[in-house]
Amino acid sequence: MKTKIRDLSHDGRGIGTIDGKTIFVENAYPEELVEVKITKEKKKYLEGKIVEIIEPSKDRIESICSDFYRCSGCQYCDYKYQAQIDSKINRVKSNLKRLGNVEVEEIKAYTMEDFYNYRNHIQLKIKDGKIGYVDKENYSVFTLENCVVAPKNTKRIIDILQDYPEIFYYNLIGLRENHEGKLMLILVENIEGLKFEKGHGYSIGFGSSSPFPERFPGLIEKLKEENVSHIYENYNTNPKYHYGQASIKAYGEGEFQEEILGNKFILSPTSFFQVNRVQAEVLYKLGIDNLDFSKDDKVLELFSGIGTISMELAKKAKEVVGIEYSEKSVKDATQNAKENGLENTEFLFGKVEEKLDAFKKDYNKLLLDPPRAGADKKVIEKILEIKPEKISYISCDPATMARDIGLLIGNGDYKVEKVDMVDMFPLTSHVEVICKLESNRR
Ligand SMILES: C[S@@+](CC[C@H](N)C(=O)[O-])C[C@H]1O[C@@H](n2cnc3c(N)ncnc32)[C@H](O)[C@@H]1O
Repeated sequence: MKTKIRDLSHDGRGIGTIDGKTIFVENAYPEELVEVKITKEKKKYLEGKIVEIIEPSKDRIESICSDFYRCSGCQYCDYKYQAQIDSKINRVKSNLKRLGNVEVEEIKAYTMEDFYNYRNHIQLKIKDGKIGYVDKENYSVFTLENCVVAPKNTKRIIDILQDYPEIFYYNLIGLRENHEGKLMLILVENIEGLKFEKGHGYSIGFGSSSPFPERFPGLIEKLKEENVSHIYENYNTNPKYHYGQASIKAYGEGEFQEEILGNKFILSPTSFFQVNRVQAEVLYKLGIDNLDFSKDDKVLELFSGIGTISMELAKKAKEVVGIEYSEKSVKDATQNAKENGLENTEFLFGKVEEKLDAFKKDYNKLLLDPPRAGADKKVIEKILEIKPEKISYISCDPATMARDIGLLIGNGDYKVEKVDMVDMFPLTSHVEVICKLESNRR
């Protein structure tokens, strides 16, 4: 069956129509005429795969990654960069219109022309004696050849690890890279049903058996040659998540350090940190500029993580209060503020939707950077009560951001001043977007 692709979906699939029904076609691009095989038939839509590209898009190119067609990581390795950007801008515009009832004429894109190895954090699955990414056809794990977005040393580190049969007791490997090219290796063991008790650890698992260097003779030395400075073992009781809450350091001096906008950060194995450091700096600068600071400003920062934005906010404002529900991140943020010599920050541990109740109207600026789900409705209602003069909303999901913005502007309390898009995730369909809102009522 043939279909003409008219658009791209949020997860990067081409959208067409067959017999009046919408069809999502993997790896098909707008303007293409494709012959498809239907792979799934749902009540309201179909899913399909390309059998033949009859008329290719002018933006289709040869894939820059040899594993692209089986890997579940990237969506656009064979699509021109500018076309990726255009599709992301269109998506933000249409989400804002459809879900937020706001029309934005111009969205500026902050692009990344040299995007090779942009990721500072990847996860590799371990299955059936293999370390690598997941094959989207059959969910098996394939050994990486040349991932174009992963840290440069990834393949060499995998080769080293594969020589140790004990490595296959783990379920997942995390690899994080800092601004100096130093690497943190996180070895994750899934232990379902096991309860972690604070201060006591687990009764089973590698953490309680012989020390790491005895279990992996010579491994640390080999990894050091590849710039690995820290190794952690992590215990995961819920495989729904990549990491569990408990990590034990197996090797490394002090804490793993990262730097952004000149500020220093302690990075714990499981803390949130933007995966693209270069573009994160662009994003944070925009997010902060949106608040048009003066020295007397008091800022509320919701979903503050380890304080990556807070440190810079604190240099511009009188006071910054961050709210974050990862206890470890709150501890790290507090420590980070100290290390950066900042005395006007406070980090509160708890859910934003609960902690925000304590705040009155004297916070005149607000920045929020929620996870993909966006902010809870209660959070938006509370923001409307606090009535900050300016709001800077950073989001990795334009749909939930549009929904939340719709609520903020719905009664005429706020107006949208500007929307920008920062290409944080080249070669994928993910979008990072940032919106400046101003109060109409203050
Ligand atoms: C997108 S990250 C932003 C972190 C930080 N702004 C940064 O750029 O590094 C979202 C953060 O919100 C936290 N979080 C998620 N849901 C939350 C909630 N309901 N209340 C408080 N924090 C939450 C996560 O732990 C994570 O650190």
